[in-house]
Amino acid sequence: MTRQPPAPHASPLSAQGDRHFDGLADKFAASLYGGPRGELRLALLDRLLPEMLALHGQPVLDVGGGLGQLAGWFAERDHAVTLAEPSGEMLARARESLAGHEVSVLQTPLQELPEVAPGPWSLIACHAVLEWLADPRSALATLASLLTPGGQLSLMVFNRDALRLSNVVKGNLEKALADRLEGKGLRKRLTPISPLTHGQIEAWSAENGLAIREVAGIRVFADYLREPPQSDADRERLLALEQRYCRVDPHWRLGRYLLYTLERPTRPPEEATA
Ligand SMILES: C[S@@+](CC[C@H](N)C(=O)[O-])C[C@H]1O[C@@H](n2cnc3c(N)ncnc32)[C@H](O)[C@@H]1O
Repeated sequence: MTRQPPAPHASPLSAQGDRHFDGLADKFAASLYGGPRGELRLALLDRLLPEMLALHGQPVLDVGGGLGQLAGWFAERDHAVTLAEPSGEMLARARESLAGHEVSVLQTPLQELPEVAPGPWSLIACHAVLEWLADPRSALATLASLLTPGGQLSLMVFNRDALRLSNVVKGNLEKALADRLEGKGLRKRLTPISPLTHGQIEAWSAENGLAIREVAGIRVFADYLREPPQSDADRERLLALEQRYCRVDPHWRLGRYLLYTLERPTRPPEEATA
């Protein structure tokens, strides 16, 4: 009897090499939003988004919207929200958590948005998505192309420099020295495949004619603590510290995530300076 060769292991990466979150939704929901790190992220965004964005109930496109927390936040503030997300598993959970909210849902990757939802949009949010893509640079160009002149992009990315520091703090010295920081997107790992630096965001924004209007660090202290806070009073203190220093140099630069407001100017730069 001839033996069948073993079935090839299906890659969790999309044809474009991106890590869609099918197979990861449970772990992501439990390990991030089910715990204090997710709580802190949401509390910081709740304070920062109204400070960093000019919000007036404009429609918003939430790209890679995941479980729908951000879409819900905007919907509660009377924005008409369109959530785009390629993972059916994440979308099913988003639909559940957004029941009762006015949110349109599109099952589509960022790369197809120019055909599926060209806008142009005056407000786009793309949080914690670029680091899961094989080509985050062209993804930023695509997002820029969807913005109306004067439109704002709320962009949050996983910070490569913070990942280096947290590896050193944890004693992963060999990995840090070899600069082997990124994940491979395989199995159920939540280490992003394309962690990004502030320098990359500066360069790619300039390439696409986007101005950096605001920047903040999300979790500038929390991920480096030797012990997580044990009491409610200490959790409050940590939140107060995060809020106080998240936009202060040098602290924002080592936030686990970098949060930007990028704006497409109303006139091209050469006209604006003429
Ligand atoms: C870390 S989660 C972030 C979810 C949500 N934006 C948040 O902040 O909680 C990354 C999300 O990006 C999605 N994603 C991966 N590749 C994508 C692509 N090419 N286009 C749009 N979203 C993508 C994943 O499926 C996943 O839901």
